[in-house]
Amino acid sequence: MAKRIQFSRTGGPEVLEYVDSEPGEPAAGEVRVKNHAVGLNFIDIYFRTGLYPAPGLPSGLGTEGAGVVDAVGEGVAHLKPGDRVAYAQGPLGAYAELHVLPADKVVVLPDGIDFETAAAAMLKGLTTQYLLRQTHRVEQGETILFHAAAGGVGSIACQWARALGVKLIGTVGSAEKAELAISNGAWATIDYTRENVAERVRELTDGAMVPVVYDSVGKDTWETSLDCLQKRGLMVSFGNSSGAVEGVNIGILNQKGSLFVTRPSLNGYADTRERFEAMCQDLFGVLESGQVKVNVAQRFPLEKAGEAQQALASRRTTGSTVLLP
Ligand SMILES: NC(=O)c1ccc[n+]([C@@H]2O[C@H](COP(=O)([O-])OP(=O)(O)OC[C@H]3O[C@@H](n4cnc5c(N)ncnc54)[C@H](OP(=O)(O)O)[C@@H]3O)[C@@H](O)[C@H]2O)c1
Repeated sequence: MAKRIQFSRTGGPEVLEYVDSEPGEPAAGEVRVKNHAVGLNFIDIYFRTGLYPAPGLPSGLGTEGAGVVDAVGEGVAHLKPGDRVAYAQGPLGAYAELHVLPADKVVVLPDGIDFETAAAAMLKGLTTQYLLRQTHRVEQGETILFHAAAGGVGSIACQWARALGVKLIGTVGSAEKAELAISNGAWATIDYTRENVAERVRELTDGAMVPVVYDSVGKDTWETSLDCLQKRGLMVSFGNSSGAVEGVNIGILNQKGSLFVTRPSLNGYADTRERFEAMCQDLFGVLESGQVKVNVAQRFPLEKAGEAQQALASRRTTGSTVLLP
């Protein structure tokens, strides 16, 4: 028996239960991982509330963790019991002491990366990898706008952008968060709770505006983000922290300057073992070189997952949060 968090109906944090579960033996192509640290992500909240439907109920929760391989199913060649590993995709259920998942979603951790760092960095770091290196491959000297710059993804993005010589303008919800984003390498910040974002971007860029906006806030920032773009700029809408963007009239892209828009996800980029491995190596490279340092600013025991989610949803966290089984 092992403990896990599950939910039998969608709703608030109160639907999360800390229960005994029997994860079972890994089937062919699967591994069982004994989690040492589990990553907390906004997507977990979307599944709990039902914004993203879980495949069935009751359901486990969470997709990101790090630990030690504890059993290996038939036909798994790249992993063996005792390996230190991490993962960021796969079936819901990472909020658990033991998690069974497809082996091809699991990567061996370099010795220099500890479990908490890995659990805090896999999903958020791989997301930053595809955003900055693939969706729009940022260039040295370029100025970009990145929303929620003091959050989990944002904190990694600030540092990675600095390492690439990119001027990242980060939006934040308070003066403390602005300080944090600057210390992580943001070139400038805008407090979007009290400043006019598009006007500030105009000032900061001498009227040029930006070629790309990375927007995970969603509903509240959608239109403002479009206003910050240069002609033919790219709007990367990759999250729903304030709610989903809905009911868009596509003509707005014409009105605001022949803009492009994309709605990407990690699963759409790390969709083959080769692509996943390559993205992990890129991420591990910036972590091991110290160019990106993951700030685990909050730790909660696994059974307090509901409290952790409340803190994330109510904008009380900075950097990354991990759950400890
Ligand atoms: N598409 C993908 O592949 C992918 C992968 C990973 C994450 N994501 C998305 O990236 C975003 C960041 O994820 P994260 O786990 O690192 O979370 P996070 O950024 O640490 O937390 C969300 C932040 O969004 C800001 N925010 C603005 N309006 C908000 C509102 N109404 N309610 C709550 N927060 C609000 C808050 O920062 P301020 O107080 O500074 O405003 C808050 O701290 C999420 O939207 C997530 O879904 C997408």
